[in-house]
Amino acid sequence: MLRFSFRRLLTNPVAGQTRKMSGANLAGSQKSLSGMVAIVTASTDGIGLAAARALGQRGAHVVVSSRRQSNVDRAVELLEREKIQVTGTTCNVGKSEDRERLVNMTVEQCGGVDILVSNAAVNPFFGNIMDSTEAVWDKILDVNVKSAFLMTKLVVPHMEKRRGGSVVFVSSVAGYQPMPALGPYSVSKTALLGLTRALAPELAQSNIRVNCVAPGIIKTSFSEALWQNEDILGEFKKQLSIKRVGEPEEIGGTVEQCGGVDILVSNAALDLVYGNIMDSTEADWDKILDVNVKSAFLLTKLVVPHMKKRRGGSVVFVSSVAGYQPIQVIGPYSVSKTALLGLTRALAPELAQSNIWVNCVAPGIIKTIFSEGLWQNEDILGDFKKQLSIKRAGEPEEIGGVIAFLCSKDASYITGETITATGGWSCRL
Ligand SMILES: NC(=O)c1ccc[n+]([C@@H]2O[C@H](COP(=O)([O-])OP(=O)(O)OC[C@H]3O[C@@H](n4cnc5c(N)ncnc54)[C@H](OP(=O)(O)O)[C@@H]3O)[C@@H](O)[C@H]2O)c1
Repeated sequence: MLRFSFRRLLTNPVAGQTRKMSGANLAGSQKSLSGMVAIVTASTDGIGLAAARALGQRGAHVVVSSRRQSNVDRAVELLEREKIQVTGTTCNVGKSEDRERLVNMTVEQCGGVDILVSNAAVNPFFGNIMDSTEAVWDKILDVNVKSAFLMTKLVVPHMEKRRGGSVVFVSSVAGYQPMPALGPYSVSKTALLGLTRALAPELAQSNIRVNCVAPGIIKTSFSEALWQNEDILGEFKKQLSIKRVGEPEEIGGTVEQCGGVDILVSNAALDLVYGNIMDSTEADWDKILDVNVKSAFLLTKLVVPHMKKRRGGSVVFVSSVAGYQPIQVIGPYSVSKTALLGLTRALAPELAQSNIWVNCVAPGIIKTIFSEGLWQNEDILGDFKKQLSIKRAGEPEEIGGVIAFLCSKDASYITGETITATGGWSCRL
């Protein structure tokens, strides 16, 4: 059943429309990483292998690794059969000599490093945290946290030589919400959220982005104790809008497709009131809430019956960083954008029953006419820049890409979520 559902998603991220996958779009997305070299740790199975495949499909040369040579050989053979440029080697990320060999080999054979996906993790312990031993903590923190940092430390000088790069840590939903019986593992995954936020401003100076993915329960051998037990799985499912376990490809997947009334991007907004909130009038509030919030809901209400006919769809609201952290002079606008964060979370479980995903993007300051009052004034922009890791206003295309991602197969296990695209403006954990 799970297999069947996933196959349907593969051919149809928003459910049901294979015909929408244009060859041109596919080629474009496949080529977007061409010329780049990507190291993915723990990549001979599960999420790491899916990430390597996804990066490779987009044109990157991928370097796969894990502890066992036989697994490396199998993964290399598999990816080569799929016409992906791939190199493989063994690497236990907990061993410094292995990490160094992986990076040195990559530089020697591929000429540099542009991307690091730090994916490896262990969990040697199930039970009450209080029963865990020092040895358990040492092992978990060594592999899950320290090695992620130490791998980053090794690749950054090479990324700097290429004048930029991208680091992605693989955390977990358990990093936000500790899982029963998985206490030390959960804490290690929370540490990765912190590492992401701590490193991003520092490495932004070298044009290196640092981000993190926090998967839910994904069907890999790592998590089989969770999804193979019907009772445990049933408990987890109660908390899911999309009532199934995810597949590795839903974390590592790439192919974008969208179109027609399968997808609604609710983007319209106005911010007509500048000044103190207390000076705003009822008419101001009516206008702002009408356009920014009510119309987003009413449009969704109009398109949902059509999405249902196609057996699924994708709704994306465009909120703002101001939704998390109100901007003083545009108070009512900020509040309307907070409402969209709430709408996203409130609608997602309801529409998931109809295979319709509801997500949200919260851009920072983007160079459009809408916000020119902010970014054209050097003083105002200067103040904002202090909060940014990437010390510039964003370009519209940098938001368009995030929206496309949320409408694509890549996001087939994401609903009720807001992605902040703010240049590193840390507006939430
Ligand atoms: N599956 C989930 O539900 C889920 C949910 C949230 C987060 N995650 C995270 O996703 C990441 C990948 O997990 P997965 O579910 O894809 O696991 P998986 O399918 O079991 O794959 C694990 C991979 O890691 C390799 N590996 C294990 N220990 C290693 C080490 N010390 N050094 C290098 N490679 C190592 C394995 O190969 P060898 O045996 O050859 O080393 C294998 O290639 C982990 O960070 C995990 O915490 C998973």
